[in-house]
Amino acid sequence: MYYVFFTGTAGSGKTTMVKEFQEYLLDQEMDVAVVNMDPAVERLPYTPDFDVRDYVDAMEVMERYGLGPNSSLIVSVDLLLTKATEIKNDIGNIEANYVLVDTPGQVELFAYRDTGRTFSSLLVGDSKSVNVFLLDAFLARDARSYVSLLLLSSSVRFKLGIPQLNVLSKIDLISKDELNNLLEWGQGEGLMDSLGVIDDYSFELVKTLVESLEVPPIPVSSPSRQGFDELYAELQRVLAGGEDYA
Ligand code: GTP
Repeated sequence: MYYVFFTGTAGSGKTTMVKEFQEYLLDQEMDVAVVNMDPAVERLPYTPDFDVRDYVDAMEVMERYGLGPNSSLIVSVDLLLTKATEIKNDIGNIEANYVLVDTPGQVELFAYRDTGRTFSSLLVGDSKSVNVFLLDAFLARDARSYVSLLLLSSSVRFKLGIPQLNVLSKIDLISKDELNNLLEWGQGEGLMDSLGVIDDYSFELVKTLVESLEVPPIPVSSPSRQGFDELYAELQRVLAGGEDYA
């Protein structure tokens, strides 16, 4: 069984991508299941095979403990850890070759608290896993924002400690020229010029960041499924060494 986590900043398109990517895999007769790990999501466009809200619901936590929206989210994500064994068992009972895992809206809730690392290693056990990190292309079209998002991606990669693929989401929202810039930057070209004058610290940081990119971010648009073939090919490369696993 392969686990594919989807992480990224709030609103970067995780839930939409999980829904469309599930349908894309189903259309190819793949055996795929979906897990919702976001205790605060109100509505889902897909029917999850496992829904973490069955264990912890952020709305209920907010009412029960009289918390505000942010603290109830933090408490909810931490509470998941107390249910880790049950959640692991439930997810372990899912029968599918691919399990797509939708994570909480704010990436820091999943990645920077113990929950993310616990679930990305505990859930997966001996199975292989990969984290798809979404960089919102509409934000990333600005060079400084692109670098900031890549830094966030590296930080998540380091914290979760599993292989990671970067995806440029929502490319239908940017112009051809903006996309070309992003593709060039992904190849390590033109980024310094686009950044303009930067201090020595930032220069070294960007240089290291660009050099450490194993695979350029994959441009994707979920509604049209543009880029899904490339994303699938990369997932296969990381998870199965290129072999199809239908
Ligand atoms: P949270 O978990 O709530 O933080 O959001 P998310 O990362 O799951 O993003 P979601 O899928 O909810 O998408 C946020 C908004 O972006 C929604 O209005 C989606 O319809 C829209 N969206 C997602 N993907 C795309 C895309 O590829 N293109 C366009 N144009 N819109 C998109």
